Amino acid sequence: MSDIKKAIVPVAGLGTRFLPMSRVLSKDLFPLVDKPVIQYVAEEVIKSGIKEIIFVLSPGQKTILEYFKKAPDLEKLLIKRKKEKQLKDYKDFESMIEGVKFSYVIQKEPLGDGHAVLQAAGKVKGESVALSFGDDVIDSAEPALLQLANIFKTCSAPVLALKSMPTEKVPAYGAVAVEKIANRLYKIKKIIEKPEPSKIPSNLVIVGKYILTPDIFGYLKNAKPSKKGEIILAEVFDKMLNDGKMIYGYELKGEWLECGDKEKWLKSFFYFALRDPRFAKELKDYIKTIK
Ligand code: UTP
Repeated sequence: MSDIKKAIVPVAGLGTRFLPMSRVLSKDLFPLVDKPVIQYVAEEVIKSGIKEIIFVLSPGQKTILEYFKKAPDLEKLLIKRKKEKQLKDYKDFESMIEGVKFSYVIQKEPLGDGHAVLQAAGKVKGESVALSFGDDVIDSAEPALLQLANIFKTCSAPVLALKSMPTEKVPAYGAVAVEKIANRLYKIKKIIEKPEPSKIPSNLVIVGKYILTPDIFGYLKNAKPSKKGEIILAEVFDKMLNDGKMIYGYELKGEWLECGDKEKWLKSFFYFALRDPRFAKELKDYIKTIK
């Protein structure tokens, strides 16, 4: 199990790539088959042995907290109405969140992913913590944050999750220049957010999962906002590198299911639906019939 006790999960972004839906429903609550994206993220945190989740919410965005609250009245109703199957589904969910503390901070304005993380500073004084964005899911036997926490145990420095991407896709991501030091493990040399195609440093890009050390909060506090007024986490890490700090990158095992735009979310939906024994055969047969 992991030495990391808390995970920050920012979900306060505008989600403009999902307009008009995201006007009324945060993208983290979109379903992947029959669970919202945020449940996959929370399950990954919990399976990594982390018992406290700190959501960074936008003002008025409390539905996510409601979702993770136990509902004894609903349970009683299901028992009364003899809805055994539904009761089991609900109980499975309840036991998944058993013993987990859910707390939150508010990001008043969406001033960037780094600014979102900074809002949680008061909840993690002096601790190293996990960070998982609310729209990135990793499907793997060993949960993603546990993979990172195990690396952190040996290096005691920030660890960024990495994945390899085809060259033509790298410009859409935060890319890294690296020095390989072991299987899947790298020293990060430089971070370039959305590099021009001619300036791609490697095929490794940053996934929205990290182990952060407490010094990041001082950097976030002093960070200069970008031209758009945002504090960008990748830029803050790059500043730390320029100051001679060590940052490691670990190429995650498992499948990266992105949910940040419509096409990625749909692909992730298909991934889980077509691998789900409850639906796979019927769906595959159905897809063949669509002209
Ligand atoms: P994204 O880069 O996907 O941005 O954020 P976004 O604003 O959510 O979506 P688009 O680009 O407008 O479509 C990555 C993660 O950081 C959170 C998001 O909620 C998401 O989980 N985030 C981003 C914040 O919490 N606050 C911010 O100010 C920005």
